[in-house]
This record gives sequence, C-alpha cells and structure tokens, in this order.
Amino acid sequence: MSLDLTIAVSKGRILQEALPLLARAGIVPEEDPERSRRLILPTGRAGVRLVVIRAADVPTYVQYGAADLGIAGKDVLLEHGGAGLYEPLDLGIARCRMMVAGLPGATPAPPTRLRVATKYVTTARRHFAAQGRQVETIKLYGSMELAPLVGLAHCIVDLVDTGGTLKANGLVPLELIAEISSRVIVNQAAMKMKHDPVKALLAALADAAGVPATASGGRAGAGGGG
Ligand code: ATP
Ligand code: PRP
Repeated sequence: MSLDLTIAVSKGRILQEALPLLARAGIVPEEDPERSRRLILPTGRAGVRLVVIRAADVPTYVQYGAADLGIAGKDVLLEHGGAGLYEPLDLGIARCRMMVAGLPGATPAPPTRLRVATKYVTTARRHFAAQGRQVETIKLYGSMELAPLVGLAHCIVDLVDTGGTLKANGLVPLELIAEISSRVIVNQAAMKMKHDPVKALLAALADAAGVPATASGGRAGAGGGG
C-alpha cells in the first residue's frame, strides 16, 4: 500500500487562507491552484498531493478515502455530519459565524410555519428542532440574503463575518448557531493505515497554524472539535 497522502482543499476563500499555512508545512503546489486546470496537484512535500474541489465536496472525498485528509469549513462539516471522519485540528482560518438572520422583528412568531432559506438545511433543521420548532427549509445555493426581501422565506441561516452583507440588505442577525473556522479532517481508515505519515503531517500543519496537535480530535460534524 502506498503511504502517499492526498489532501482535499476547498477552493476559494479557504484555499486562499490555507496556502500560506500549507507552505509553512512545505506543501507548495507545483502549479498555481487558482489558475491551473489540473485537479490533482503534486506539491513540494514528498508524497503529498492536493486536490482542489468545491467546499461542500471535501468531506465526501475524505469520507470515502478518495482523499486521506481535507481542509473544510465547520459549516460544511456540520452539514455533512462527520461520518467516517476525524477532526483533529482547528486551523483558525476563514473564521465567521453561522447565524439565523432576517428582517428586524422577523421571528419568532410568523403567522404560518417558519420558512427558512439556507444552503445548510440539515443544520438549520437541527437548530430549530433543538428549540422544539418544526420549520420549513428552502434549499438555496447562494445569495440567501435575498430570500426574506422578496418574501421567499421569513429568515435565513447563513454565514456572517463582518455583517456587511446583512446590513447592505437591511437584515439583522437573530440567533447564533455556531462559530465557524476551517478544520483539518482525516479519513478514519487512513488514520490507522497511514498512521505515521498522517501524524507527521498533522504535526507540521499544527505547527504551521500555531495550534496544539491533538491525538485524533474525535469525530467531525455535529459534536466534533467544537
Ligand atoms: P462554492 O463556491 O463551492 O459554492 P462557497 O461559495 O461557499 O462555495 P466560499 O465563499 O469560498 O465558497 O466559502 C468556503 C468556506 O469559507 C465556507 O464553507 C466557510 O467555511 C468559509 N466562509 C464563507 N464565507 C465566509 C466569510 N464571509 N468569512 C469567513 N469565512 C467564510
Ligand atoms: C459569504 C456568506 C455571506 C457573506 C458574509 O458569502 O454567504 O453572504 O459571506 O460575509 P460578511 O458578513 O462579511 O458580509 P460569499 O462572500 O462567500 O459569497 P457567496 O457565498 O455568495 O459565494
């Protein structure tokens, strides 16, 4: 069995913030991942390659062992659920909050069942169910802030960083669901079968991020890693 390691990284915001950190761990892709059309990129660290994919696909690749490790937002991990994954490291990058937001005074008592527009339907349902509220979720793929403005939903569940997008659209944050940052996830079988190289890589990434390395970090998703 090859002990080479494949790391799946979300393209976009997380990749931007992860690249300098990866570089500090000796992981420099041979081509610029933002420009290259190649999907598998060898790196300057022996035996380590990157695959750069859509944020929501990262846990899936790692769950099935198509990548040994991944870097993904906690938002995506909460939504995925964490099956087959460990979450040993919080890199502290791409920080934001997952929140319920809406027009001022929108919740808590709409005349009909609360309609929630979001990319994060599972997490949203779980959040409201924990309050004993059954809600109707409407799946969207972006620009969630539009939904309450045009009457598609009473509120949204989305990520908030500066709050600028909410403000620009006359919306306000209503409830905090989770603090979000990017996590390193590891395929549970790879953690066993490739223990030494995975451990060495995790130590290098922890060092690069300036955070403590932990044993395995527990399961990713709902309860894992905070
Ligand atoms: P895709 O393009 O695949 O649909 P996306 O639009 O969610 O994904 P990004 O906006 O790059 O892609 O977000 C990727 C990740 O970055 C999110 O999963 C989240 O963890 C984090 N993130 C998103 N928005 C913010 C933000 N405003 N501030 C900080 N981190 C964010
Ligand atoms: C994210 C998120 C919010 C915005 C919040 O969108 O979905 O819309 O950032 O950030 P703020 O609080 O600093 O305004 P992003 O910019 O990634 O756009 P997209 O999801 O539509 O691609």
